[in-house]
Amino acid sequence: MNREEFIKVCGLSCAGLITTSLFLQGCAGTKYLNADINGNFMEIPLSAFLKEDGTGSRDYLVVENSKLSYPIAVYRHDSETYTALLMRCTHQGTELRVFGDRLECPAHGSEFTNNGSVQNGPADNELRTFPVLIESEILKIDLR
Ligand code: FES
Repeated sequence: MNREEFIKVCGLSCAGLITTSLFLQGCAGTKYLNADINGNFMEIPLSAFLKEDGTGSRDYLVVENSKLSYPIAVYRHDSETYTALLMRCTHQGTELRVFGDRLECPAHGSEFTNNGSVQNGPADNELRTFPVLIESEILKIDLR
């Protein structure tokens, strides 16, 4: 192997390691929660946002329920401000993946911010958001 081939192989290996690391980092930080639905509301105890190691609160959760076709990403902006986003791509309906403060579509690459705005197409429309309210330490997502 000559010098040029060696540098090429090392470069590709590094790119692969970085890509794998970023992917695993995105998956490892995501907490999934099977949440109850009572009437029109999906209910999440605010304590679900606390990190298990006691170092504060998570920035987001992914909540699911068998009655829903898609999960909902719930972002915690501060102790009183939350955004609930349906994880359905507005381009052709593929389920999105969460990577920290953005959501990505594995089908054609659309990206959305943590308030549902389109960051990169081909999707043209924002994600569906749900109204949220807090009652007795329970975050209620209005599914109507
Ligand atoms: S279905 Fe999501 S970008 Fe096409």
